[in-house]
Amino acid sequence: MTTKNAEFWTRLSRKYAAHPIKDQAAYEKTLERTVEHLGPDDAVLELGCGTGTTAMRLAGKVKSYLATDFSGGMIAIAEERLAAERLRGTAHEGLDLLDADAFDPRLVPAGETAGYDAVLAYNFFHLVEEPDELLARVRSLLKPGGLYISKTVCLKDKAWLFAPLIGVMQLVGKAPYVNMLSIGSLEETIRRAGFEIVETGNHPAPRSRFVVARKV
Ligand SMILES: C[S@@+](CC[C@H](N)C(=O)[O-])C[C@H]1O[C@@H](n2cnc3c(N)ncnc32)[C@H](O)[C@@H]1O
Repeated sequence: MTTKNAEFWTRLSRKYAAHPIKDQAAYEKTLERTVEHLGPDDAVLELGCGTGTTAMRLAGKVKSYLATDFSGGMIAIAEERLAAERLRGTAHEGLDLLDADAFDPRLVPAGETAGYDAVLAYNFFHLVEEPDELLARVRSLLKPGGLYISKTVCLKDKAWLFAPLIGVMQLVGKAPYVNMLSIGSLEETIRRAGFEIVETGNHPAPRSRFVVARKV
C-alpha cells in the first residue's frame, strides 16, 4: 500500500467526484445484486470507497457501514457529501467514513471478535499491489461465512493495449499501479484465499467482474 498511490488518488479526487458514473445501468445492477446478499442487521466494511457514492446508497440497508479509503482527498469529499446529507436529514445513522487502508488496525470492529458480515470493494482490487495479502486480510475481518463482494476491472485480455498505455501514464504520474488480471486469475486468487464463489456477473461486460465470495 504505497503512499504514492494514495497521493495519486487524492490529486484526482475532485475530478473523479465531478465525473458522472459511466454506465448507470451496470452500476444499478451491481447495487441490486449486492443488496440481495445483505441484511438489516449486517455490519459492513467497504474498502476503497472513493467519494462515498456507493456507501451512501447502501448504508440504509444494513445496521452499520464503515466506508474506508486510503486517499485523504477522497474521504474529504465523502465527508462533505455526508455532511450535506445530514443537513437534508437523509444521512444514515450507521454510516461512518475513515481515511484508512485495509490493514489499518482501526478496521477491526471495536469490542468484537466476530468481524463483519460483508466486506465490499468496487473498482479496487486491480489497484492492490499485494492481492494475496489483501484477501487474507479481508478473510480475517469477516465473520465465519461472511461475504466478500467485489467488482474488479480485468484488463489481461487487452494487456497488449492497456499495459504500454498505462506504463507511459504512470511515468508522467497520470496512472496508479494497475494489476492486469484475467477473470480466471481473479477468481482463482479469491478461491485460493479461502473463499467459495457464490455469484459472478459482468456488469458492465466484458471487463468488469462482479464476484460474491463466501469465507469458508
Ligand atoms: C477507481 S477508485 C473506485 C472508488 C469507488 N469504489 C468506486 O467504485 O467509484 C479506487 C479507489 O480505491 C482507493 N484505493 C486504491 N488502493 C487502495 C488501497 N490499497 N487501500 C485503500 N484504498 C485504496 C483509491 O484511493 C480510490 O478511491
